[in-house]
Amino acid sequence: MGETNNKIPIILDTDPGCDDAVAIMLAAINPLFDLKAITAVSGNHTLKKTTQNALKVCSALGVVQVPVAAGMSQPIVRKQVIAEHVHGETGLGNFNFGGPLIPLDSRHAVNLIIKTLLNSNGDIIFVALGPLTNLAMAMRLEPKIIAKIKRIVMIGGSYQLGNITPAAEFNIYADPEAAQIVISCGRPIVMIGLNITEKVLATKEIVKRITSIGNKYAALFFNFIDFYIISIKKLYNYEASPIYDPAAIVYLINPAIFKTKPMYVEVELKSELAYGRTHCDYYGSLNRPPNVEVVIDLDSDEFWKIVHDTIKLNS
Ligand code: RIB
Ligand code: CA
Repeated sequence: MGETNNKIPIILDTDPGCDDAVAIMLAAINPLFDLKAITAVSGNHTLKKTTQNALKVCSALGVVQVPVAAGMSQPIVRKQVIAEHVHGETGLGNFNFGGPLIPLDSRHAVNLIIKTLLNSNGDIIFVALGPLTNLAMAMRLEPKIIAKIKRIVMIGGSYQLGNITPAAEFNIYADPEAAQIVISCGRPIVMIGLNITEKVLATKEIVKRITSIGNKYAALFFNFIDFYIISIKKLYNYEASPIYDPAAIVYLINPAIFKTKPMYVEVELKSELAYGRTHCDYYGSLNRPPNVEVVIDLDSDEFWKIVHDTIKLNS
């Protein structure tokens, strides 16, 4: 990848969000990444709270050189849905940050995305950890950015079950029209959907292994997810909690541990029951050209080793 000193330039679009916070931390502390911008979007909670949470997480991490901007406060068409039942009243579980907050960039996130992409040499990877409203609006406002996106790595969708409805995954369900705009944009897309859920469970043993690293980032890891683990267990009765968003960062650290399959993907926009479902043509029965690389498997031991080693990097 043609990056400054071999770093991978990324824009991180996020709705923090307990699992988002872990992903932001991994991107911020792993030297592989050149974080160009962090853009908040409404999703797990209202834009006010996801923006505040992005500032809290970046301030706690000491991420001071990266512009953090607030984006779209509402989905493009549908009525807003949030996931307070999962991420708590603040949107970041029990995590509190009493220190001074870094300043919010005055630009709208959609404009920051456009400016950052137009100023780039086409090497930026767009990492989407929440609903795709910001990116979709940026594509509509300035279509020239589409060719400037090297790849989109998105957490969202599912080729099997949903998690917010039987059919749909939350990030897509929260703004299906935005997701369809992005998924049909023609650029390379890697979709990391719920199908990895049973593969990246934060079991008690894994949480203990990571928190026993004993540095600031290990403590933050625990603070970011302790509330979330309990709420997810109550909701889905998983033996442990799927930590979705870090998978986008781990993918960029080592894509070789992920197995993908090219598929034609389209978002359901008409059905009441299946609204927001990512219809993934696993067997190619529609004879339409694949537009997404869908993650269908990953090496979960390697996944957690990468999370552990990244957090340990900064001991
Ligand atoms: O469905 C899981 C996704 O929705 C994650 O990105 C989580 O943070 C929420 O945004
Ligand atoms: Ca998220």
